[in-house]
Amino acid sequence: MGSGGSQNNEGTEGEVDDSEEVEDVEAAFESETQSSSPSTSTHHSMTTISRQYFGGDSSADNHTFFIDIIEVIKREVFLSANKIALPFLIEGMTFCFSNIRNLIWVANCRSCWVNAQKIREDYGMFVWPCSIVLSEYVWQQRSRFSGVSVLELGAGTSLPGLVAAKVGAKVTLTDNSKHAEVLENMKRICDLNKLNCEIIGLTWGEWDESVFNLHPQIMLGADVLYDSSDFDDLFATVAFLLHSCPESVFITTYQDRSGHHLIEFLMVKWGLKCSKLLDGYSCIPPQKVCGMPGIIHLVEIVLNNQDSS
Ligand SMILES: C[S@@+](CC[C@H](N)C(=O)[O-])C[C@H]1O[C@@H](n2cnc3c(N)ncnc32)[C@H](O)[C@@H]1O
Repeated sequence: MGSGGSQNNEGTEGEVDDSEEVEDVEAAFESETQSSSPSTSTHHSMTTISRQYFGGDSSADNHTFFIDIIEVIKREVFLSANKIALPFLIEGMTFCFSNIRNLIWVANCRSCWVNAQKIREDYGMFVWPCSIVLSEYVWQQRSRFSGVSVLELGAGTSLPGLVAAKVGAKVTLTDNSKHAEVLENMKRICDLNKLNCEIIGLTWGEWDESVFNLHPQIMLGADVLYDSSDFDDLFATVAFLLHSCPESVFITTYQDRSGHHLIEFLMVKWGLKCSKLLDGYSCIPPQKVCGMPGIIHLVEIVLNNQDSS
């Protein structure tokens, strides 16, 4: 567990070391997973479905379409959370969960992210704020997406790619080929939304036949710049795919977590340049911004043709 800790209801910081509390949380999880509705669940994980609205004022009453997203909370992930933390509950509210119970469980789960690095392989099972921002941007820029081939990298629950599919793009969703559960969940989410996207395993910095066959016109990546040890591999893949299709662009959203200089350095290394940089929150309806964390950047990246010529 990291040293950051998460804020509990009393406003103190700390890890889960109170056995009584852990038992309480464990009992609550067991009871919720056995009786939960509308989610499906097993004893070891809880599945929630959240509805994301687009267009109109993006409310349940006034929208153009919605996307349903399946998120899975594992028991061990859940138990890493200490308490229902109000700040995370508020953050969760921006995600339009279909029922308050699911909201609370997912809010708890999100709070784990602060201090539970061991859940990294589960990152693809949640909708991250960067994904909300990028999907709104896709919606706003929908005329750009109609009829073009779109590839989402590190798609996880795939909200931006699904919005692109909804507005008429031909979409391929990808995630780490070793994360079978994430890839399976992507398939379930596509089926739930009746969207016909291709789904493939694509691990950054690894080259197999499927990568050579891809020629996306637009690449999307939400919150894929979070672990600096992966940045070089990610940029290698992005640069390769940008070369595979002239005029293509990589649109990514990332949270300001300190990797800024490394990102700039790697763009130069891989012959890339930033063609647009926006404050992510400027792209989304005010009611979705409420409670979102930190700063989110939205960047469009293209080949730096001056360097590559
Ligand atoms: C923080 S999550 C973001 C998920 C989703 N894009 C979102 O914003 O909700 C990072 C995603 O990158 C994927 N990922 C991590 N390392 C990867 C790698 N080396 N190759 C491909 N995907 C990777 C994870 O499986 C996960 O889905």
